[in-house]
Amino acid sequence: MKSIQIQRLKAPVPPELSTMTFSAYRHLLEMQRTSRHPTDGDQKQIDPWALGAWHGDEPVGLLLAELPVDDPENVHLLSVFVQPDHRRRGIAEALIRETEEHFKPTKRRHLSAIYTTGKPGVACLERLLARRGWDPPQGRTLSVRFTPEAILESDIMLERRLRAQRRGLEIIPWSEVTAEDIAALRRSDEEAPWIAPFLAPWRFDRNGFDPSSVAARFRGDIVGWIITHRISFDEVRFTCGFIRRDLSRRGRLMPLYYAVLQALKPTPCSHVTFVTPFCYPEMIGFIRRRLAPVSEFVGETREVHFELPEA
Ligand SMILES: CC(C)(COP(=O)(O)OP(=O)(O)OC[C@H]1O[C@@H](n2cnc3c(N)ncnc32)[C@H](O)[C@@H]1OP(=O)(O)O)[C@@H](O)C(=O)NCCC(=O)NCCS
Repeated sequence: MKSIQIQRLKAPVPPELSTMTFSAYRHLLEMQRTSRHPTDGDQKQIDPWALGAWHGDEPVGLLLAELPVDDPENVHLLSVFVQPDHRRRGIAEALIRETEEHFKPTKRRHLSAIYTTGKPGVACLERLLARRGWDPPQGRTLSVRFTPEAILESDIMLERRLRAQRRGLEIIPWSEVTAEDIAALRRSDEEAPWIAPFLAPWRFDRNGFDPSSVAARFRGDIVGWIITHRISFDEVRFTCGFIRRDLSRRGRLMPLYYAVLQALKPTPCSHVTFVTPFCYPEMIGFIRRRLAPVSEFVGETREVHFELPEA
């Protein structure tokens, strides 16, 4: 029987291996300094790092990681994949072990990974990392994916309730928000901070946004937004949604979601992905109670860490 060989990948990476990671990460296999999501305006520079597994001449597994340029102690695993015919032979474990061995004698001894639950491989990976002494996984965000129709036709979007939630708000396409609006928004937030720092719109629209993105005005001021991005031909991600806290009660963000979903209706978008950090418990409660029952996928993103002992 042929043995398994594991090798550090250098450009050019064999094309068979590039199908073994998520399409959003394929550009990393050029093995050149870049960012994780360059088309989303991600500025954080990283160096890709990868191991391939071969059975004879056949590439059978890939582990892809990133080395953050401004963070010299971290290695972030992005994906691990083994061809179905070669699973349960310890290849994933060998890929992880080799990664640990490679970084042990270096300064980069903090390993981490973020992944989404829901697929059978994930439970297998969690067991594998636990066996190797990694810390227990922690929940980070809750993701749901649904069809625009499933939400528009559900009782979440009752016209009567939406009318009440919309009162006083003017909902406009994000593309109609002017540079003066943004300058005023920044000024008011600098004077008395009210925008959740992680949800400021300028973090998300600088390298483009989907035309379905919307803003809400209240008494002339921009007070809320939903910035969306098209992540594939037929899928849109709700990347950031926020409304001023004094207006956020009683589902005032709901008419903005409605406006986005209406804008998506005539487009080829058949799926919407929605991700919320666990640090927003009200939103998490809403997703679990209301969105999850009409969603086609519900998953958690989890993170897991491991501090490598010094060699
Ligand atoms: C998750 C994944 C990478 C695991 O790859 P793998 O090579 O099968 O993993 P391993 O062989 O190292 O370990 C898998 C299991 O096989 C068992 N195993 C390993 N060698 C074995 C052997 N010789 N005989 C029998 N079982 C064996 C392991 O104990 C482990 O069992 P467990 O799931 O009960 O803990 C693979 O299933 C996969 O590619 N899935 C799709 C992608 C994915 O979900 N990736 C994870 C998120 S990015």
